[in-house]
Formats: sequence, C-alpha cells, structure tokens
Amino acid sequence: MATFRHDVLIIGSGAAGLTTALRLPDDCRIALLSKGELTSASTYYAQGGVAAVLDQEDSLESHVADTHVAGGGLCHDDAVRYTVENGPDAIRWLIDLGVDFTRLTGDNDSALPYHLTREGGHSHRRIIHAADATGKAISGTLIGQVRKKDNVTRFEYRVAVDLILQEHNGPNGQKGKEKRCCGAYVHNIETGETDVILARAVVLATGGASKVYLYTSNPDVATGDGIAMAWRAGCRVANMEFMQFHPTCLYHPKAKSFLVTEAIRGEGGHLLLPSGERFMHRFDERGELAPRDVVARAIDHEMKRLGADCLYLDISHKPADFIIEHFPTVYAKCLQLGLDITRDPMPVVPAAHYTCGGVMINENGQTDVPGLYAIGETSFTGLHGANRMASNSLLECLVYGKASAEHIGATLADVPEPREHKEWDESQVTDSDEDVVISHNWDELRRFMWDYVGIVRTEKRLERALHRAELLRNEIAEYYSNYHISNDLLELRNLVVIAELIIRSAMQRKESRGLHFMRDYPGTNDEVVDTVLTPPIS
Ligand code: FAD
Ligand code: SIN
Repeated sequence: MATFRHDVLIIGSGAAGLTTALRLPDDCRIALLSKGELTSASTYYAQGGVAAVLDQEDSLESHVADTHVAGGGLCHDDAVRYTVENGPDAIRWLIDLGVDFTRLTGDNDSALPYHLTREGGHSHRRIIHAADATGKAISGTLIGQVRKKDNVTRFEYRVAVDLILQEHNGPNGQKGKEKRCCGAYVHNIETGETDVILARAVVLATGGASKVYLYTSNPDVATGDGIAMAWRAGCRVANMEFMQFHPTCLYHPKAKSFLVTEAIRGEGGHLLLPSGERFMHRFDERGELAPRDVVARAIDHEMKRLGADCLYLDISHKPADFIIEHFPTVYAKCLQLGLDITRDPMPVVPAAHYTCGGVMINENGQTDVPGLYAIGETSFTGLHGANRMASNSLLECLVYGKASAEHIGATLADVPEPREHKEWDESQVTDSDEDVVISHNWDELRRFMWDYVGIVRTEKRLERALHRAELLRNEIAEYYSNYHISNDLLELRNLVVIAELIIRSAMQRKESRGLHFMRDYPGTNDEVVDTVLTPPIS
C-alpha cells in the first residue's frame, strides 16, 4: 500500500474532470483517476451534442428562457445565466483544442461553418455536434491533450473509496481548525491494494448515478460514487428526486444501454404506437420536441395503456443519405442488430439517463467541505431545476470545470499541505466466500428502484422502497466491515446511499413537477423549492 502526494486530485475523467485538468495551471501536479480506461465515462457515449448560443438568429436570453421552462420553474437564474453566457467561449475552447464538430456542407451563407441541430425544449437550433458521436469526439480530443501534459499523472482502473478529511488551520494559517478534504483512499482494481492519495484540493467529477435503476442509458461507472462520498464527508445534496429518464433507448435483447439520440426527433423523427399512429400531440403541443420529462411520461403512459413492451421511433421518411450522414452511430448499431433505420422504425423504451440533483456547490465548484470541489453530473449547480434540458449537461461540465480550475489555481498557494495519513487498514477483514450476495443485492436494489421510484411514484411505493433500502444498507454495511473490498462492493455501498437519497427527497416533494410525478399529488405547489438533505453529524 502506497501514499502518493499531488497538488490536486481529480476523481473522474469525463468532460468535467478532463476540463479541470486542462484548465489548471501547468505547474500544478495533478492526479487524474478513472474507474476504467480514461474513456470509461458517460461523456464518451454522448450523442446529441452541446447546447450553446452560436447562431446570430439565436440569443442568450432565449437559451436562458428555454432552460427555465424545461426546468419547471426550479432552475436558479444565476446558474442558468452563468452557464449560458459562458457557453460560446467553452465551445471555442473545444474547437481550438481540435474537436472536429460537424460542418455545414454545400453552399450556404451562414457566418458559422458548423451544423447546429435541435433537441427537445430548445426553441432554436443550438446544438453543436460531431454527427451522433459528440462525446467520443470531445473525450478523444481532451484525453489527447491530457496525455501531452507532464504535470498530469493518470491513474486508470482506480476507484476512490472515501475522502480523507484532516483538521487544519484555515487558508493562510488562519486560526481556528476546520475539517479539510486532503485526499482519498483509492482502490487499485488491478492489484487489489488500497492506496492513499493526498492533495491540497480534491475535485469530484465522478458523473451520475443512473445505474441505481434496472434500465439505464449510462455506462457501468455511473454509480453515484462522488455523491455518496461527499455525503459521507458531510456535504449537503439537493434535488435527488429529479432523475431523468431518456425517452428513447433501443429496445433489443442484445443492445445493453444503447441510447437513440433526441436529435433524431430534432431532425423530424416521429414517435409511433405499435399501430403506426403518432401520439405525442395528444400530450403536448410541441409534439416529439416537448421536454424529456413530458415525452418519457407520455411513452410510459401509452406503453402501460396498451400493454406494449416498447413504442417506436421512425425517421425512415427522411432521405437515406441524410440519415446515414447525421446518425452514423445509431444507423450502424441498428444495422448490426438487423434493423435498417432508413426503412424501419426503431423499438424504443425510456431508461434512466441523468442525475439532475447532486452535491451542492457554489459558482466556483466548492462544496460544503473546504478543499473539496464537485463538478459535472455529480454536482448540483441549480442549472437543471426539475428537468435538465437536452445537451445542457456537457455545457455545465465545461463551464464549471473551468470555474473550479480557476478557483483552485488562484487559492492553492494558501492551502496547507496535508499531513501524513494512516494507511488503509485490512487487518480485521477476510475474503468473502459469498460474493453472490453482492450481485443479488445489486439486482434487488435496481429492480425496486425501477418498480417503485421510477417515472410514476406514489407515497406507498416510496415507503416500500425506503424500507427495502434500509434493510439493504445494514446488510451491505456489515459486509463492508467484514470482507475485503472489491469494485462491485464499493459501487453497491454507494448505490444504496443514492437510493435512499432519491427516495427521501421524493418523499419530501409533495407535488408533481418536471421529472418527479407523484400520483398522490398531481398538481404543483409553488411553495416547494429545492429539496436539500443534510447528512447526520458523525
Ligand atoms: P462522466 O463523463 O460520467 O465521467 C465520470 C468519471 O468518473 C469517469 O471517468 C468514471 O470512471 C469516474 N469515476 C466514477 N466514480 C469513480 C470513483 N469512485 N473513483 C474513480 N473514478 C470514478 N449530455 C449532453 O449535454 N449532450 C449529449 O448529447 C448527451 N448524450 C448522452 C448520451 C448518453 C448515452 C449518456 C449516458 C449521457 C449523455 N449526456 C449528454 C449526458 C452527459 O454525457 C453526462 O452528463 C456528462 O458526460 C457527465 O460528465 P461528467 O464528467 O460529469 O461524468
Ligand atoms: C441525446 O443525444 O439524446 C442525449 C442528449 C442529452 O442527454 O443531453
């Protein structure tokens, strides 16, 4: 077991973590962690694009207004304005670094050489994209840049277990002790050892928690580790009830977690019942381009009404060349499964996609614990309100990644050096002979979250789910104290925290708004604002 020292520890190599790493000063010694390869992140799988005001016909006010409408009146105006205003700069930065966004082809008189697509909730074309593989393009470019940096040490296949807190005087030696975050225990998946990484600032960029549900568009790493670690360290979390379900994930036994981008609807795709009939206009005048909460609920409603396993998304009325050029990833994936989307509709179902709530931060990315920052999907900035508007997420990663890097860069010199910290203690644990318990608990947790805390909720279902989560929490805690840790056990331990945070937040919100639909309270209650949970004092 080893101890490593760096100036800044960044946990996560998605858009948020990579942006922070690249935006920090070059003389800052950075440790960058990822649970798998650097690409093992939701960022890599992003399809639609990044929302920003880039077209002369568009305006910052319009992007701000659309974000507020999609967010059901709960977005924080300061966070929305800050993000939207910094959007065009963030895109310029990506272009300067070499991200190859899709360009306009043929004769056109546009001042902007890039193609902009549309997605739900946006009243203008403002999504810049790299065909339907925007995340791959962004992640590839940012990782390429990070690899060139001598000051960034990359730790792949490492799982942060828990944050390390130490008592120190305040910055500049100010008298009065405060508990600062000074690093993390980090489990090495390849060797099974758990090391200590010490740093003067720690950035949680661990992504979302959608793996808490049985069906999700997210990669396996999305287990809410950062939110759970921050909660255990004493940070408040907010609005965890707002888990976003993407309306269109491919329904096919061989297509694990495959998303079908909303941009297909943006470019004219139709949602169809099994009979071939369009239905979205019955639910919202914006039809297929209503915000995601509305579309996912409409699909859920129609599937239940008809007893259907899936509904359909059809773009086959568009020219085949157009479809193949704009959606090569979806086209290729479907073709591999025997489905030609230039001719046939795609079977689709909603699946858990995005965590709108998270660790509460300020405009610099600072959490409640000194020395600890949170950015990207792990964080709660106030931008998304009750429902994130499409393609605002990558934008948030880029904008707050920069903000936190600037704050860390400007303050690091005044931050005390961490003291030596005790090694991970394995003297009291043994190897488990019952690993099957972990996989059973995983299945049980994700199944009851899907059944009881999904798109439609009731008080009774939430109570049932809470009861089960509490039982599982105790069982997992016992397991954690007695046996050697593994990635599966660590993720399960975090997921049960996430489940409880979602359920408890949902129980507090006695109204229906955005992504939170409670059958017992179908109306909105304007007295309810953010659902803030504070950890018990340990
Ligand atoms: P991630 O990109 O998820 O990165 C998290 C990182 O943390 C990973 O490197 C992971 O390995 C690491 N990590 C996690 N836990 C630990 C731990 N304990 N120890 C060490 N490392 C850890 N948003 C848009 O704006 N536009 C889109 O077009 C879009 N399309 C999407 C399509 C799909 C299929 C999905 C799943 C999401 C999409 N989103 C989109 C959402 C967006 O991609 C994510 O919200 C965003 O990429 C999150 O970035 P992040 O850096 O916060 O986290
Ligand atoms: C998509 O391409 O549909 C996903 C966009 C997003 O999650 O913002």
